[in-house]
Amino acid sequence: MKVLLVGGGGREAAIAASLKKSAHVDTLYCAPGNAGIASCAECVPIGVMEFDRLIAFAKEKAIDLAVCSQDDPLCAGIVDAFEGAGIPMFGTRKNAAIIEGSKAFSKDLMKKYGIPTAAYEIFTDAEKAEDYLKTMASFPIVLKASGLALGKGVLICRNLEEALAGVQEIMLDRKFGAAGTQLVIEEFMTGREVSALAFCDGKTYKLMSSSQDHKRIGDGDTGLNTGGMGTFSPSPFYTKEIDQICRETIYQKTLDAMAAEGRPFTGVLYFGLMLTKDGPKVVEYNTRFGDPETQVVLPRMKTDLVEVMQACMNGTLDQIQLEFEDNAAVCVVLASGGYPEHYEKGKVITGLEHFEGRDDIFCFHAGTKFDENGNIVTNGGRVLDIVAKAKDLKSARAKAYEAAACVHFDGAYMRHDIGRALDEI
Ligand code: AMP
Ligand code: GLY
Repeated sequence: MKVLLVGGGGREAAIAASLKKSAHVDTLYCAPGNAGIASCAECVPIGVMEFDRLIAFAKEKAIDLAVCSQDDPLCAGIVDAFEGAGIPMFGTRKNAAIIEGSKAFSKDLMKKYGIPTAAYEIFTDAEKAEDYLKTMASFPIVLKASGLALGKGVLICRNLEEALAGVQEIMLDRKFGAAGTQLVIEEFMTGREVSALAFCDGKTYKLMSSSQDHKRIGDGDTGLNTGGMGTFSPSPFYTKEIDQICRETIYQKTLDAMAAEGRPFTGVLYFGLMLTKDGPKVVEYNTRFGDPETQVVLPRMKTDLVEVMQACMNGTLDQIQLEFEDNAAVCVVLASGGYPEHYEKGKVITGLEHFEGRDDIFCFHAGTKFDENGNIVTNGGRVLDIVAKAKDLKSARAKAYEAAACVHFDGAYMRHDIGRALDEI
């Protein structure tokens, strides 16, 4: 098969590696890709929102399967556009991608179908939101821009003053653009967070191995929210008992709810869960593979990725036996100094040869490119995802940090406590 992957981050680097391993893939293209993805796919300089150019390219190359797992193009209808042009694409159609694209939609869905989540109110009027906040008996409270905001549109406000400033930022200053047209004000929950990713064919889901992200920039979960600074998989906190509860109260109910709404969900559904003392609750849904969760989940998947994707698209997922290796993986993100705020690009990266020919450590490129001299240089906030596999989480963590120490660029930043929670068990 000829396969076209749309995207160019660390998640796509992990997807590309799994696609390349598939028995069904002869040729792999990636648009736009990056300097690391170029080692396993032919990169094509077309942006993820350029649907017409992507479709023209796919037709010219007679692509058999296209794959997209990025929120912006999915919510804008890339799957519908490809299907309309007669090219099968793995991903979620626009009318179902709204589960991530509108938090107002997903909160109302959960309320209507009795899926456990934080209590909330939705506002389109800043003054009404402010009046409501003034009636709050306790803080913290959580403010969320309803639309897509690169994972950054969530504010946890410790008091009324911060909450009112948050309404100003999201609804009036439009810090997250049109995403702030609607505001969700939500009860603050406490508990451990787990990411559960599931392949879906509209009616059946198959759960992948669990994982945990580290969203804050600083050690000890301090500082600003980021796209994700590191992950581990599986999560030892996602026990068999919790799995059973989630299967009964969350996963199938969500798929059935989407189908009942006339929005059957196909693709990867990401359940961001909080394990509260009242049981697991949904923090958020995403309509795609998580980033950087994918980097620790897919390298452990034994089942052929193309076969699973095709089953999702054909409605035959119930016939797939999804299997994972009985081991563990840890990912440490190397970011540009200053991320998630201001940072410089174009720093030369060295030490990448360390990963060549290894099947236990991987360096998935997230934000890199080739400069005019052929050097691999930094080209984003999150630059490299260093992943190690080992028999258990603690050995994987040690190996990931050892591997991360082999790579260098000016101003490289990483958290030093990815997987610290593992010391509690
Ligand atoms: P989201 O983009 O909705 O996943 O939110 C980003 C992060 O904010 C989550 O991963 C949580 O750490 C935190 N968060 C979101 N909603 C809540 C909530 N209701 N209570 C506590 N923390 C939350
Ligand atoms: N790692 C969080 C996300 O993919 O949204």
